[in-house]
Amino acid sequence: MAHLPAPRGTQAGTYSLALVCLGNICRSPMAHVVLLQKLARAKLSPQVAVASSGTGDWHIGEPMDRRAAATLAGHGYDPTRHRAQLFLDEWFTSQDAILVMDSSNLRDVLRLAPPAADRQRVLMFRAFDPLAGADLDLPDPWYGDQEAFEEVLEVVERTADELVRRLSASSP
Ligand code: 4NP
Repeated sequence: MAHLPAPRGTQAGTYSLALVCLGNICRSPMAHVVLLQKLARAKLSPQVAVASSGTGDWHIGEPMDRRAAATLAGHGYDPTRHRAQLFLDEWFTSQDAILVMDSSNLRDVLRLAPPAADRQRVLMFRAFDPLAGADLDLPDPWYGDQEAFEEVLEVVERTADELVRRLSASSP
């Protein structure tokens, strides 16, 4: 499995992590909400900042997709605070890690990278999924059914558990 990039150290004792998909209304918001709740349970909220965004601008300012929200709510998470944001290239200098949901997101993000960007801080989210095989794509559930959203949540929960384990092991 991959390693989380070392913190830049601009703010001692903290780590900033951004989750990126295409629309920022399905996959990355689900990962964002789940990771925030798991970090809170691990008492790591003060040390780890989480953000999410999409490389597409169609849904900026909108809440999560209603199927994504219903799936989260059905499993005890609060989906109501999310509003879609556009990926900004300033994240290449502010984020310790940028985790993308599929290989087209990876291409899109790297295309936006300024020449001096540290591209090694951009990784596939499922590089931290303990059950991932060779294919690290988290398929887009946008054209799928409710079952597709349940499958996304399953991957997101176990990957978030692993991320929290990594982040607690390295926290001061
Ligand atoms: P997401 O899913 O990238 O997981 O948020 C999508 C949501 C909307 C669109 C594409 C993907 N769209 O084309 O509007």
